[in-house]
Order: sequence, then structure tokens, then C-alpha cells
Amino acid sequence: MKIAICGGGNAAHTLAGMISAKPGHLAGVYLSFPDEARRWQIGAAQNGGMVVHFPDRTITGQPHTISSDPAEVIPGSDIVLLALPAFAHEQVLLKISPYLRPGAWVGALPARGGFEWESALHLGQLYPSLTVFGLQTLPWACRIEAYGHAVEVKGSKAVVEVASLPKDKAPQVAATLENLLDVRLKPVSCFLCLTLANTGQLLHPGLFYGLFRDWQGEAYREAPLFYQGVNDDAVEILEQMSGEVQAIRENLSAAFPCMDFSPVRSLFDWIRLCYEGDIEDKSTLKSCLATNRSYTGLTAPMKKNGFGYLPDFQSRYLTEDIPYGLIVTRGIAELTGVETPAIDRVIHWAQERMDRKYIHGDRLWGDDLAATRAPQRYGVTSLAQLESLMAGELPTNQLRS
Ligand code: NAI
Repeated sequence: MKIAICGGGNAAHTLAGMISAKPGHLAGVYLSFPDEARRWQIGAAQNGGMVVHFPDRTITGQPHTISSDPAEVIPGSDIVLLALPAFAHEQVLLKISPYLRPGAWVGALPARGGFEWESALHLGQLYPSLTVFGLQTLPWACRIEAYGHAVEVKGSKAVVEVASLPKDKAPQVAATLENLLDVRLKPVSCFLCLTLANTGQLLHPGLFYGLFRDWQGEAYREAPLFYQGVNDDAVEILEQMSGEVQAIRENLSAAFPCMDFSPVRSLFDWIRLCYEGDIEDKSTLKSCLATNRSYTGLTAPMKKNGFGYLPDFQSRYLTEDIPYGLIVTRGIAELTGVETPAIDRVIHWAQERMDRKYIHGDRLWGDDLAATRAPQRYGVTSLAQLESLMAGELPTNQLRS
């Protein structure tokens, strides 16, 4: 199979090494930024392969092409993997769409919220022939060690969920990707399960809020541990946010009884399932975060200045997880009549720090809503329209010519 990997970060490094090491598969890498492509080409040339360090094994593979020109990587690909923060999806979908072959599979790891709607909008005339898929999360916690040639996988999830459009392709996609990624994948009924079960949208803004909600501008001597340093305030808000997602799930299950929303688990259930072998103390959500080996040493996103470290409110923990996560979920809450005071509190705090406007009072409203994947951004304001959107049908005024 010919596989194209889009992205130049931690996830793309891991995929490039793993997939190109698989016999019978060809992996190419498309990077949007020419300087990254050059750095990757230099790293690859010097070291003869991408080395992926797992805790218990090492894999080395070499992609056949590394390029910032999609024409050199995408044509003829059977599977195209977007291993990117969600804010890059739109730009990359637009760049790759002219080169896709009919029938190709295009997917995002992770999907975050509303990936299927963005794909319907940007994949053009070919969209009806394609299979669009998403993973609920990235299967690994991974960090680049040396650009273009080495990456460390700190931990792997025990199981990751996959959704697709058309829906009935999900088992085939899961089986194929399981072989490529060496991780157990479970097909689920619809993309909305992934959108709501996106735990990054809770963990990242929730922990950020817990750490810095009273921040007054002071510098830290060192960056605080993000997960292992979790405090009681953060756990409380995470549990409340997770409870609100569960209320949305219940209302959706009542509205669409034929759909299975059971994969939308509470944060506590999810973390114990996903990091089964990695958590020392599974007794509470706090202990699951603080004693999870995959999170060892991971610090809060900070910027260094002359005095020390300041929280980085432009980090993807907010710029990805608010507009492509929490706002999407908040939009679905509005459609299903669920009140979300904890989620709203975090969004209000985050949008002020980010200098954005997504929510006003208790309504989704603001100049920056257009740069999110909330269903309302696609003109969807009722459950009936949401049902069509779940089938990949955008309101007609949203369709690209
Ligand atoms: P990263 O921050 O390492 O990747 C950034 C890369 O994305 C850049 O190097 C660039 O190649 C590309 N990119 C950024 N902005 C772009 C734009 N506007 N247009 C085109 N390309 C652009 O991210 P990483 O770690 O690879 O993560 C990818 C996804 O996986 C993200 O959604 C992240 O939240 C998620 N994730 C990552 C985990 C990890 O351990 N690395 C764990 C769980 C989820």
C-alpha cells in the first residue's frame, strides 16, 4: 500500500518511522513548510532512517519521499494520514485535495471535533468517492528527539476508537490501520462519538485553567508539571466538564436511539481504559493523572522570558483544543439543550487569555466562531440538521462548488 503522512511534528515522525518499516508498504511525508521539509531531508540523509524508540523496542524505517510539494507525495496514495494539530487540517485538506485519487482513504489522527465536516467542505468533487476517517486520539505520547531522524514514544494507548464516513467502512479502516500502527483500534458508530470523546478538549484546557486561572503575570522559576502536578481545583473542573459531556451523550442517545454513543466515556473511565498498564494508582482521576507513566515529565506549555517562565496561552492546548474541541462540544450542547456551566467557565477564561471571542454570556456568539468547527459555523441550528451533518451532508449554502 502507498501511504502519505501529512505533518512534520511528533506524530508524523512516529508514523513515518513505523509505517515505512512495514514490509510491503511505501510511506511518503508531505510537510506544508519548506524549511521543515529541508530539515527532515537533512536529518534523514545523515542517519539513514527514522528511529522510533519505544520503551521496549526500537523501529527504524525510511520514508521514500519527504517534500513540501503535495504533487510529489499525494498522487496514487491509498491512505492519507493527517498527523497534525486540528488548526492545520483546513489548509492541508485544501493543498492535498487536487492530488487525491478516487476511492482514497483520508483520515486524521486525532480527529478532534468536526473533522468530517471540514473534510466535506474542503475535499471538493471527489469527496463522495472517498472514505474519511478519524481516530479518537493519537495512539502514542511521543516527542521528537532529533528532527528528521529520531522520536521517542513514551507510551501507547491500549485501544483507540475509529469512525468513518461512510459509516460502514469503519471496521475495514480499523483492521487496516491496526496492522500499520501496531495498536488496537475499535470501530465506533459515528464521528460524533469521537468529537464528544475527545479527551484533549477536557484535559488540556481544564488542566491549564486549574494551573493558571489566578495567574497575575508572575514568572515561574521552572515550567510546572502539567499532568503529574495536577491540583484539586483542576480535578474538580475536569470532573464537572466530563459530567456535562455525559449529559450531552444522554440527550443524543434519546434523540437518536439507533446510534450507539456508549464510546463517549467519562474522563475517569477513559483514562483507566486507555492507559491500562501505565497507571500506578487507578483509584481516582487525580491519581490516574499523577501516576500515569506516559505523562512523566510533561510540563505545562510555557514561554521563557528574562525572569523565568510564563504560561503560553497561544499553545495548541488552547488554540487547538478550544476552537476544534470544546467549542464543537459546546455547540452540540446547545443543539441538545444541555447546560454546560463548567465548560462555559473554561471557555470564558480561555478566550480572554487567547484574545478571541467564541461565547457571549451563555450563547455561542462572536467574531471568532467562524474559525471553529462548531456545527453552528456550518449553519446547523437544529437536531434535524445535526442528523444530516452526521451523515456528512453539509447545509447546501455551505457546499463548495
Ligand atoms: P506538533 O506540534 O509536533 O506538530 C506540529 C506540526 O504540524 C508542525 O511541525 C507542522 O508540520 C504542522 N503544522 C502546524 N501548523 C500548521 C499549519 N498551519 N499548516 C500546516 N501544517 C502545520 O504536534 P504533534 O505532537 O505531532 O501532534 C499532532 C496531533 O496529535 C495534535 O492534534 C496533538 O494535539 C495530538 N496529540 C499529540 C500527542 C503527542 O504525544 N505528541 C498526544 C496526543 C495527541
